[in-house]
Order: sequence, then structure tokens, then C-alpha cells
Amino acid sequence: MTRVAEQPSALKTFDREGKSQRSVVILGSTGSIGVNALEVVRALAPRFRVVGLSTDRNVNRLAEQVREFSAPAVAVLDQEAAHRFRGLGLQAYGRPVEVYTGVEGLIRLVRETEGELVLSGVVGAGGLKPLLAALKGRKVVALANKEPLVMAGELVIQEARRHGATIIPVDSEHSAIFQCLQGARRDTIRRVILTASGGPFYRRSHLEQITVQEALAHPTWKMGKKITIDSATLMNKGFEAIEAHHLFGLPMESVEVLIHPQSIVHSLVEFIDGAVLAQLSRPDMRLPIQYALTYPDRVETTLPALRLEEAKALTFEAPDFRQFPCLQLALEAGRVGGTSPTVLNAANEVAVAAFLAERIPFTQIAHIVARVLGRHVPRPHPTLEEILEADREARDAAQALVPC
Ligand SMILES: NC(=O)c1ccc[n+]([C@@H]2O[C@H](COP(=O)([O-])OP(=O)(O)OC[C@H]3O[C@@H](n4cnc5c(N)ncnc54)[C@H](OP(=O)(O)O)[C@@H]3O)[C@@H](O)[C@H]2O)c1
Repeated sequence: MTRVAEQPSALKTFDREGKSQRSVVILGSTGSIGVNALEVVRALAPRFRVVGLSTDRNVNRLAEQVREFSAPAVAVLDQEAAHRFRGLGLQAYGRPVEVYTGVEGLIRLVRETEGELVLSGVVGAGGLKPLLAALKGRKVVALANKEPLVMAGELVIQEARRHGATIIPVDSEHSAIFQCLQGARRDTIRRVILTASGGPFYRRSHLEQITVQEALAHPTWKMGKKITIDSATLMNKGFEAIEAHHLFGLPMESVEVLIHPQSIVHSLVEFIDGAVLAQLSRPDMRLPIQYALTYPDRVETTLPALRLEEAKALTFEAPDFRQFPCLQLALEAGRVGGTSPTVLNAANEVAVAAFLAERIPFTQIAHIVARVLGRHVPRPHPTLEEILEADREARDAAQALVPC
């Protein structure tokens, strides 16, 4: 059984004239997903009312967004940046904009604003507590921030169920699966196939010498730095397999990965009668974001249509696990479950930050994650406290492997 939305009753269906409005909070509005989400909101005006926005430190961009969308409340993670934002004295609807700070601020933004829909586009494990707050508040959550599902998938799904909250996937692969599953009985799924572009280093050898600039040059997607590096190591695809396992309630063994460099087929579902359904579109995150924001409706887009006759070929092949050990590590951690994916995610966050700071070579990311995972004794069905403890310990262990 899928655990994502069948029909989120909390949401109004759009009328044909687009007069009914959904109120939306966008967490991480200054990042790649957040900016794309606001482009969708702008393009679909007046269907959405933005009631909350958030950033870590980018208060200049946040201020522009508040002015354009008249957001009455924001959360700024960084205290000093929040102080600078307050100094701007911004108003919305004739009142001072409410400014929340810190992780508690993100939680308050989710709890205290009247957003029916929360789109989470923050990056990393820091999104876990705001996500849990949104689920407790029975919000409909459009989820791009995948790390909480990797580190605490079982707990997140339990919380969604307990509170009757809904999660709609934003990641293009999970959106594709979600779309293929509309109207399908879940016990008829044989397997899902996640497609991966392969990143910039597919078929390339000697990855030790890769520079940060090379790793940040993704061939098809324009994304934030952390997910771009995760895509280059293919850790991102392993994360997505764990994400699919939790979102769609499938065993890890039923989630497979194929390299599809054209990034046109976003994922596929194979059913027990041998039929395979796929979702195709141009690689543009605004499309899955729009689907998540307007679900269960489909609303016309002004973005260019996919022209299959212009795609020279659509190719698929099995990934090379020797070239991309992070994918293997992630799939294995997903199979072990418990706190293993928590440790995988935490060690990876530390290693990717160290690579971006040019303190370790590219290939060291996989070594650090493997060493930290290798020493970890996983706990099954962890509580939130156990997850946070495993996360802390793994970060310390990974940090100890990064040269000063
Ligand atoms: N980008 C994509 O196309 C894409 C596709 C699928 C899934 N995703 C997932 O979506 C999430 C966001 O990715 P992204 O590429 O949009 O990242 P990004 O460009 O780095 O943006 C992250 C956003 O979160 C804020 N932020 C950073 N650290 C934070 C923290 N600890 N707590 C709260 N907010 C924080 C950032 O603020 P600042 O602006 O101040 O840094 C920014 O607003 C990731 O989990 C990623 O895996 C992204």
C-alpha cells in the first residue's frame, strides 16, 4: 500500500476559473526548489496565497520574495541573518512581517500560519523537525527535502498515518511513480524502476582528480550544491530508492535503478501482469512541483511541451556499482533499515560538505560513508531520540575522518 496521498481531503479542488485559492508555506524558498515553486505560484496566480517563506541566510532574496508575494510570516534559520532581515522593517497587508528564527522558528512558521499546504524545499537533515511539525498539524506536505525520509522514513510515515496527514512527492522520480499509480491497486505493483541521468561522471574513470567545479556541472538538472554532488556520486539515487521504499510501502528489493542519460522518462512502474507504465516530460522541476501543488487536479502549464521526435534516443542500462559505490552503500543501508540509513545520510552530509570545502577528494566521500557505516551497529525501529543520537554520532565519526 502506498502511504502517499490518495485524495487529500484537506485541499480545495480548483474551480475552472482558478478562483479558489490554496494557502501555502514554502520552506527553503530561497533555494533551487523554493525558487522554482514560487515560479509555479506566479504562473498559476491567483490559485495560491503564500503565507510563509523561509531561508537559512539568504535574506536579500527572501526580502524580494516577501515583497512580491506579500508573505505575512517568514522563518530565518540563522540568527544574525534574521537580525538583518528584521532591520528591513518589511510589511505585508499593512502589518509588520512576523519573523521566526532558528529551527524552532521553522516549526512555528509551519504550526502558526494557516497554510493548508507546506512545500518543504530545505536541504538536509535539518528539515526533519519542521516536517514532523507539519505532519502533526495534519498539513498536506509537498516533500522535496528527501533527507528526512532517508534518515527517519519509518517514523515519518508513522507520524503521517497517526495524524492523518498527507505527503505528496516532489522529487521527479517519485512524482512519476505517484502519477503512474493513480487508479492502480497497490497490491498489483511488481516493482518500480527509478531512472538516473548518471550525473557528469557516468562512464568516466579516475574520479580521484575531479574538481568541485566539475562535480557541480550536472548535465541535465540545475539544482542546489548538495544534491548536485549527491547526483554525481549517485548517492542521490540510493536516497531516492529508500525514499520510494517508504513512500510507496515497497520492499527495497522491489525498487530498482536504471541509468537513463536523457532524463525524459522520470521513472516506471511494472505491474504483476507485465504492463509497465512510465511518466515522461522535459527535465524541469517546475512540472513535478506544479503537480504536487495542484494535486489531485491537473492545471495547464505554459512551459514548452515534450517533443519526442526531437529526442534522438531513449536509452537505459544497469548502473555500474564499482564506479559508483555510494549507490551500493545506500541500497544496502536501505535493506538493513533501522538507524543504518540515518548514519548513511549523516556521514554523507559531512563528507559532501568536506568535498565542497575542498578538504577531501571526490572519491573520499564514499570511503568516509563506508567506514562510518561499517562501524555502526544498527538499531531496528528507532525512536526520534535514537535517530537524533545516531545522526550525531555518525557526524562526529565522519568529521574525525576529514583532515583538519
Ligand atoms: N533542486 C532540485 O532540483 C531537487 C530535485 C529533487 C529533490 N530535491 C531535494 O530538495 C531539497 C532542496 O534542494 P535544493 O537543490 O533546492 O537545495 P538548495 O538550493 O541548497 O536550497 C535549500 C534551501 O533551504 C535553506 N536551508 C539550507 N540549510 C537549511 C537548514 N539546515 N534548515 C533549513 N533550511 C535550510 C536554504 O537557505 P539559503 O538560501 O540561505 O542557503 C535554501 O532556502 C533537497 O533535500 C534536495 O535533495 C531537490
